[in-house]
Amino acid sequence: MKALVCKTLGPPDTLLYEDAPDPVPGPGEVVIDMRAAGVNFPDALVIQGKYQSKPPLPFSPGAELAGVVSAVGEGVRNARVGDRVIASVPFGAFAEKVRARATHLIPLPPGMSYETGAAFTLTYGTSYHALKGRAALAPGETLLVLGAAGGVGLAAIQIGKALGARVIAAASTPGKLAVCRENGADEVIDYSTEDLRERLKALTGGKGPDVIYDPVGGRYAEPAFRSIAWRGRYLVVGFADGTIPSLPLNLPLLKGASIVGVFWGEFVTRQLPDFVRDLGEMFALVAQGRLRPHVSARYPLAQGAQAIADLLARKVTGKVVITGGDDALVEPPPPPAPPLERRDEGTREPAPEGRLPPAELVRLAGQEIGVSRWYTLDQARIDAFAACTEDHQWIHVDVERAARESPFGGTVAHGFLTLSMIPATSYDLLGERVQASQIVNYGLDKVRFVAPVRAGQRVRNRIRILGVEERGPGRHLLTTENTVEVEGQEKPAVVAVALAMLA
Ligand SMILES: NC(=O)c1ccc[n+]([C@@H]2O[C@H](COP(=O)([O-])OP(=O)(O)OC[C@H]3O[C@@H](n4cnc5c(N)ncnc54)[C@H](OP(=O)(O)O)[C@@H]3O)[C@@H](O)[C@H]2O)c1
Repeated sequence: MKALVCKTLGPPDTLLYEDAPDPVPGPGEVVIDMRAAGVNFPDALVIQGKYQSKPPLPFSPGAELAGVVSAVGEGVRNARVGDRVIASVPFGAFAEKVRARATHLIPLPPGMSYETGAAFTLTYGTSYHALKGRAALAPGETLLVLGAAGGVGLAAIQIGKALGARVIAAASTPGKLAVCRENGADEVIDYSTEDLRERLKALTGGKGPDVIYDPVGGRYAEPAFRSIAWRGRYLVVGFADGTIPSLPLNLPLLKGASIVGVFWGEFVTRQLPDFVRDLGEMFALVAQGRLRPHVSARYPLAQGAQAIADLLARKVTGKVVITGGDDALVEPPPPPAPPLERRDEGTREPAPEGRLPPAELVRLAGQEIGVSRWYTLDQARIDAFAACTEDHQWIHVDVERAARESPFGGTVAHGFLTLSMIPATSYDLLGERVQASQIVNYGLDKVRFVAPVRAGQRVRNRIRILGVEERGPGRHLLTTENTVEVEGQEKPAVVAVALAMLA
């Protein structure tokens, strides 16, 4: 394969584009055919030996990518060859093939291109963690973003708007400020020509910004901090300027303000479930069109060094990506919303023929009417449930810890996830036979959780009719008993009563 290789520490033009051995996945690892890799400021630092992590030479830089899994190592259960994924790696993304830990994969959301996927996780993850997690930015507050046209800066503008803040963007050229406005900034300041303090005073009626997002450091930090509002939060994100500023400690005292450190990489390592929750929330905002990753330039892998040089020279806005395949830029059409059964294996039990009129259903009271097809409760489904419910207990989502500590030898599906499969599985049988307009779970007093479902196990629903009541002209309420069986297991996962409104 071809790769961008750092053999001696130095500026981007010391990187070599050359042949490198194809990586082989070790246990717990996958190899990804890179389609797009995001370029980030730390890539420029790591090749110069100026970053906190220092990979042994020779190495390929690059920490985030999107692509297709092409090989899977021993023990990997959450990825298969052909999966479209986003991955984070300590280094090595600027290569045609990239080795990654399977635990560091995120399924590329349907409808998201590889280049958007590669440009998303680090910048949006950092800014979301900073603004929501660290600063608790509230609707109606004013946010100042420094270096606002850069990767994390543009993400901060969009996230600030999505969180309901008024956003003031500061950058160094009229062109960059125009990009900030296009991405939602309410006000802009050219800090290369305008007095930051005076402009902030004018734009906030003397109050100052409630939250300051600073990925630049250097000479802007002190004037920005001196402008902060009472009880403001100053987010220390990075030092693109190259200088780490110092602040007199009387300043936070006088404003009752906080200086808040942001270290996204460490946050992901230490608080993985919180990151997974953030990711679910961010993907939802992308799906709603409220976050739109801005990729300003693409470079083929052979010109990857130029991508890093342009970033260092402050020539780029938003994100730049290195592409590794012809289809990196193509937005795949959103797949048709698949009925759940399309994702699941197994054959459907032959459904009895014909519609069941309510009178017939009354006659069937007490009888079993059939069994649904199989549904796999895989880790992706479990993670999606955790993201929706914000219930990230390790036994459900922490694959590595569960493999070590769980009595089940791995993660298990949440009981309520299994319960919530009942409407879908019921439609397999009732949807065809009784024209049910709604199927809902019943109250908790009608539910018994019997046995756990381990990640990857298949479940199906055996349905018995309990009764039918007339609820107005042509409308009937059907009550069923649902036994959610687990493949190869004697005990069911859940037994629950459910209601269906018959049209
Ligand atoms: N804390 C964390 O967890 C975390 C995570 C990701 C990134 N970061 C840090 O955040 C910073 C920004 O990252 P990024 O990916 O957004 O970089 P970027 O896209 O290059 O943006 C940085 C911005 O900083 C401004 N800047 C001011 N002086 C600069 C200089 N001497 N060289 C380059 N840019 C300069 C530029 O805007 P103007 O020209 O408009 O001034 C540029 O748009 C980096 O220091 C990075 O290490 C921190």
